[in-house]
Amino acid sequence: MVTLDRPVQQQGDLVAVAPRAPLRRPSAKRPPMRRAIVHLTAEYHGYARTGGLAEAVAGLANSQARAGERVYAFLPLYASVRSATPRLQLLAAPHRLTLGPLEEEVRFYRDATRVGAPVVIFVDAPGCFDRPGLYGDVRGDYPDNHLRFALFARAALHGIAQFVPPPVLLHAHDWHAALAPVYLRTHPDIAPEFHDAPTVVSVHNAGYQGHFGAEVMADLALPPELWHLDRLEWYGRLNLLKGGLSFCDAAVTVSPAHAAELRTPEGGFGLHDAFRHLGDRLVGICNGIEQHLWDPASDDQIAAPFAVGDIGGKAVCKEALQRAFALPRRATVPLLAMSSRLAAQKGFDLVLHSECLRTADLQLIIIGEGDARIRDAVAALVAAHAGHMACSFTFTDRLEHQLMAGADMVLMPSLYEPCGLTQMHASRYGAPVIGRRVGGIADTVIDEETGFLFDPFDVRAMDAAIARALSRYADGARWHAMMGRAMSRDFGWDRSMFDYANVYRRAVLRAAAAR
Ligand code: GLC
Repeated sequence: MVTLDRPVQQQGDLVAVAPRAPLRRPSAKRPPMRRAIVHLTAEYHGYARTGGLAEAVAGLANSQARAGERVYAFLPLYASVRSATPRLQLLAAPHRLTLGPLEEEVRFYRDATRVGAPVVIFVDAPGCFDRPGLYGDVRGDYPDNHLRFALFARAALHGIAQFVPPPVLLHAHDWHAALAPVYLRTHPDIAPEFHDAPTVVSVHNAGYQGHFGAEVMADLALPPELWHLDRLEWYGRLNLLKGGLSFCDAAVTVSPAHAAELRTPEGGFGLHDAFRHLGDRLVGICNGIEQHLWDPASDDQIAAPFAVGDIGGKAVCKEALQRAFALPRRATVPLLAMSSRLAAQKGFDLVLHSECLRTADLQLIIIGEGDARIRDAVAALVAAHAGHMACSFTFTDRLEHQLMAGADMVLMPSLYEPCGLTQMHASRYGAPVIGRRVGGIADTVIDEETGFLFDPFDVRAMDAAIARALSRYADGARWHAMMGRAMSRDFGWDRSMFDYANVYRRAVLRAAAAR
């Protein structure tokens, strides 16, 4: 049996090697830590979502809870959460918090209909979060995002002190929560009970770091000595993600290949020195998906069930999808799908300029929400190719399930992809991925075996990969063999639990040594 005393695994190997198959662990089972794992996150599946962050954090928290850990998650009580969660239960009397110009009555709530673990706690600060968007509106990001998320981080620390029996380990996700480890260490008075608790920062998307002007330091109650190259200063700006990385005991990004990319000038988003500086404290661990929710054999959101060896239902799903998107109901035309945040990161520039997508005999469906400029360009492309392409700019879980079930192939031409979850959903639903060999796509798709990968970020390279996929599709037997291999891959969270336990263990040791 694997115990917590097992020698620490060589983290360097994890980063250097991009495993093409799920790592085989001696056993995913290990005794739970006797420490609460507290996730701080801006998104959580079922409540607030703009992209993969929500699903990744909730999936990780759920699998930790299933493994017997005490797991908590704190997230802001956005207006959308409030309206979608009819039975909010107030946890304690309001707490007055001031931060720079902000004076907020902070309340903590639980969803009264939710039973069992993880315990999800909402931070209610109406001046900050009672707004239509999570991060912004049609005019762009909210100008006070630094204050909103700084307040979230501080309030969450108060909430932990009130509601989470010690000892705790703090796991902050992305820049929105990155100030939590900073405050914990620099303001011991906020949470004296656990100011030396181990902290872990997860980097889901270093393309977003929380850059602000130097002048907001004082408003965020950040001591002037933190304005330093080794702390939060970054090319004359304040960088909140960098702050979290400089104070955390361990950092995780969401695939081994991306951990290597982050250490390079090309792939480090200007933070490669900070990532390198972390040494073996930065580890890449592949996200998983909740395989019981992403199982075409038992999925009640799709038109018909199917499985490896019993694939008939997939044709029913394809027809239903074509009908829903008013595309000709042709059984044999290859149906390509794209499901993604409408963001430049996802490679829409390639899609918009692809010759192959416009001229080959195929159908293309794009779903996603996000950038208005991309939305308009996609809408124009689709309008010019009616009967051949279709789109929806209202993303729902249900639609994504139906898309994966009905599609023959899924397109992921990402500029960068820390992990990506869509390729795992697609594989399980028998839709091989045509994707760029970056980050988590490189780690989870095997070229010519379970999908088609390309390297340069250009239209010709993508079109060549699409052409390879189309010609394989025309060869029925080989295509079915590829579908079977893709569907049989294990993308469950269990395969990552061992690595997380190691990271937590190292964080605990480091925090104890600092004490
Ligand atoms: C971000 C990344 C994506 C990753 C997700 C969850 O959305 O862009 O690659 O899968 O976070 O970690």
